[in-house]
Amino acid sequence: GVPSLLRVTPAMLKENNGRKGRPAWSSYEGKVYNITPYLPFHPGGEGELRRAAGKDGRKLFMEVHPWVNWDNMLGECLVGIMVTQEQALP
Ligand code: HEM
Repeated sequence: GVPSLLRVTPAMLKENNGRKGRPAWSSYEGKVYNITPYLPFHPGGEGELRRAAGKDGRKLFMEVHPWVNWDNMLGECLVGIMVTQEQALP
């Protein structure tokens, strides 16, 4: 079916940093992915991927492997889109 996407504020992204039993989320160009299930499969290692947890991973990603198509690989892990705190208000 059509996935329903969360509206993710910067605070929510920061909170889901993969620590204390929380999932690891990472944003790439305004899209938010749950990278938790991919951690054990990352060819560059879990630790490297964790560096992007709870934050925007685009810069790190592009520094290491700009040729990798993240949308293609992480499509199933898409959980939401970034919004500002103001946009999140009802
Ligand atoms: C390697 C995917 C995020 C660091 C790779 C490779 C893939 C991949 C497919 C193999 C590339 C190849 O051999 O051509 C992803 C995906 C990411 C992600 C889908 C997004 C969630 C990151 C981040 C870092 C990172 C944030 C942090 C710096 C590395 C490193 C390698 C690597 C260092 C090289 C491993 C080696 O060949 O020795 N990644 N990656 N990756 N990745 Fe990532």
